[in-house]
Amino acid sequence: MKWFHFKIRLGIRPKLAGTYLLIIVGVLLGINWLVLGALEADYLRDREVKSLTNANIIALAGQDVILRQDRNTYYFARNYGEQVRSRVIILDGSGKVTVDSFGESWLEGQSLSHAEVVSALAGTGRAGVYTLQSSGEKVLYAAVPVGDQKPASGAVMLVTGLSDVYIALGEIRRLMMLVSTGGGLIAVAVGLFLAARFTRPIQNLTGAVQAMAQGQLGQRVKIDSSDELGRLAESFNEMAGKLEKEDRIRRQFLTDSSHELKTPLSSIKVLAQSLLDGKEQDIEVYRDFLQDVNTEADRMSRLVNDMFQLAKLEDAEYPVQFSAQELEPVLDHVQGLLRGQADLKGIIMEIRPAQGAGGRTAVADVISWPLNRDLFTRVLINLLDNALRYTSTGGKVLVSYQVERDELVLRVSDTGRGIPQEYLPHIFERFFRVDQARARETGGTGLGLAIARQAVLRHGGTITVDSRQGVGTTFELRFPGTPVRVHS
Ligand SMILES: Nc1ncnc2c1ncn2[C@@H]1O[C@H](COP(=O)(O)OP(=O)(O)O)[C@@H](O)[C@H]1O
Ligand SMILES: [Mg+2]
Repeated sequence: MKWFHFKIRLGIRPKLAGTYLLIIVGVLLGINWLVLGALEADYLRDREVKSLTNANIIALAGQDVILRQDRNTYYFARNYGEQVRSRVIILDGSGKVTVDSFGESWLEGQSLSHAEVVSALAGTGRAGVYTLQSSGEKVLYAAVPVGDQKPASGAVMLVTGLSDVYIALGEIRRLMMLVSTGGGLIAVAVGLFLAARFTRPIQNLTGAVQAMAQGQLGQRVKIDSSDELGRLAESFNEMAGKLEKEDRIRRQFLTDSSHELKTPLSSIKVLAQSLLDGKEQDIEVYRDFLQDVNTEADRMSRLVNDMFQLAKLEDAEYPVQFSAQELEPVLDHVQGLLRGQADLKGIIMEIRPAQGAGGRTAVADVISWPLNRDLFTRVLINLLDNALRYTSTGGKVLVSYQVERDELVLRVSDTGRGIPQEYLPHIFERFFRVDQARARETGGTGLGLAIARQAVLRHGGTITVDSRQGVGTTFELRFPGTPVRVHS
């Protein structure tokens, strides 16, 4: 288990290079072994054939001399033995040595029972390799019968040293080892180089990830390949970019919200301070000041409420439930909530189905739609509040709705002052107001549209704005879903 842990801790580089080395060395050793084995077998077969041929020539040429068994037999054996560079041993029909070209007397008269001798006397030539016990040298025994009779009346055996074969094989082995070692070293070098090349982007990425874990969100890695690692780096950069942007927005929100909260708070502070400092006795003055303090406190409370609502909506974990909502009652409810505000300002407010072509209403039936009632109401209140707020007396505010294929489409339009073109892309940002000071005075928190947008997004819908300065503004909402027709 310890060993396994040790292996796990190795870097990719040594792992790759080590694996590479093992494979290369294994393959090279295998090849060397196969080639040397084949060569040895080939050499030996060649020697066997040669030796058997020579033995046959001697047996044939010397058939008479051999069978005569006199002094000439020895010379004959010695001559031929020198010619074929072998020891020539002649045996009689019982396997007993009669002549040895080396003239070693101890051998003469001995009976040999080697498989080669037995086979030759039985009529078939045969050869085999032996290792001499005294020197460890390898020798080849090749024995053939003399004459045509079976069993043979004698045999010729050639004993040939094989040291030249093994010297040659050793030479080849040394050469192959040299080439293998060289090749292995080159392979390891190449393996290390490649491993370094492959792991450099990983190291860069690891460094960037670690730096990012410590809060340095500006981390990016260089992308110099289009392979998997390149794509990984690309994804990392994308993710880092998103995180950085999120972080910037969060910081900005924190700065903005403290600023927004500070304004009413300092007003309260100033009011309270001047009451404490003054020698004023008049209860009406106190009442007046406290009225202002109350207004500022209300504003703070609205602000905190909106911030809290936005935070909840942006929290993906915060659950939002949807159920089929009958549209007309919800819209009636919204209209009831804002009727007073519209009347007070002298603005005509209307909520009705969109006029289809030919004057027929597009939503003839009472429809219900999968919505979160609270959020949906909140969206409409925020949009209508703006429409009423930024439209002057005598203006008109209209909410029209219809079903377009699988979308519920609502348009909230007014005949108000409109929004300058250059501000339109920012209109849904938190605390964004076209006229910061004025809007704050009128009591808006600057979060209304941000909340509306989040609420619509939570429904999987979209919200877009179209506006012309001095003409009016239209917000378009699209909620996906399938309509349920309640009555027809
Ligand atoms: N119907 C509208 N007509 C003109 N301007 C609008 C309208 N709706 C929103 N705006 C502009 O967008 C800004 C942001 O709106 P909102 O997020 O609701 O904040 P608030 O209403 O509290 O100022 C407003 O301050 C105003 O400048
Ligand atoms: Mg508003």
